[in-house]
Amino acid sequence: MYKIIDKKRLSTNVVQMTIEAPLIARSIKPGQFIIIMVYEKGERIPLTVVTSDKKNGLITIVFQEVGKTTKLLGKKEIGEELYAVMGPNGNPFPVRHYGNIVLVAGGVGVAEIVPIAKALKEADNYIITIVGARTKELLFFTDVLASVSDKLCVTTDDGSYGIKGLVTLPLKELLDTTHIDMILAVGPTIMMKAVSDLTKNYNVKTYVSLNPIMIDGTGMCGGCRVTVGGKTKFVCVDGPEFDGHLVDFDELMMRQKTYLEEERLALKLLEEKDA
Ligand SMILES: Cc1cc2nc3c(=O)[nH]c(=O)nc-3n(C[C@H](O)[C@H](O)[C@H](O)COP(=O)(O)OP(=O)(O)OC[C@H]3O[C@@H](n4cnc5c(N)ncnc54)[C@H](O)[C@@H]3O)c2cc1C
Ligand code: FES
Repeated sequence: MYKIIDKKRLSTNVVQMTIEAPLIARSIKPGQFIIIMVYEKGERIPLTVVTSDKKNGLITIVFQEVGKTTKLLGKKEIGEELYAVMGPNGNPFPVRHYGNIVLVAGGVGVAEIVPIAKALKEADNYIITIVGARTKELLFFTDVLASVSDKLCVTTDDGSYGIKGLVTLPLKELLDTTHIDMILAVGPTIMMKAVSDLTKNYNVKTYVSLNPIMIDGTGMCGGCRVTVGGKTKFVCVDGPEFDGHLVDFDELMMRQKTYLEEERLALKLLEEKDA
């Protein structure tokens, strides 16, 4: 049903995979996401469709192997099938002509931002993209982003490629010297918080694409709850893109940490049971 047509490793733990999913390929819009189940009894994980080929009914995802399900997905080979691919989920990004746009991407956000970047380019925006990584070896997709950007700037924390420092360094320089109409940040929560904190001082509209832990992806379980502008929102049905100046990032990070603590506790209990 959801056959894997192509697979390629982009860096040590980042995989690109093309899957047969004609209905999704036909209907997904930039900003929306899908939910994948690798096996019948496996968990459901949200992922972004990076490119869709309507004619051949194919979608391409890029994922980082961080835990159980993404590692299982990474073990699947060309010709094998996935149990379920559901979507489109969430809301499309408000694509229109803004003028001068800065896209800020880090981690696997570098791939997740591609469909929105392409659509914003087609809407005749001037696009400056800032890509950040810890080190040169973790960089990927910079050529893809360069092809949809008028200017591309790369930063690495250790200075092994491009500007040494965090993405906020060139972003601040741009905000000080250039008129910017809109900013979109996609990547680790801490990066999106830093970008939003900075741009708040310049009063530039800033969107972020939130990536909390999701369980059902239908607005029923409350797993992806966030507070935006003092109101409760569910990222799976109200997002995933929100106004970064209104997101309660401290609460979001605290909730992500809680899941991590619970995960550690569950693993410890399992180890004790086995001992
Ligand atoms: C709308 C949306 C779109 C996404 N698109 C992509 C994508 O295109 N490519 C991609 O690689 N990932 C994407 N993600 C994140 C992806 O869903 C998670 O990495 C995945 O669910 C992890 O599952 P796992 O079983 O492999 O890891 P788990 O075993 O569940 O977790 C492993 C480790 O990763 C942490 N973790 C798990 N999920 C998240 C998360 N959402 N944010 C931060 N830390 C997390 C856990 O706390 C734990 O430390 C997206 C998330 C959302 C909400
Ligand atoms: S994942 Fe359950 S409410 Fe969003």
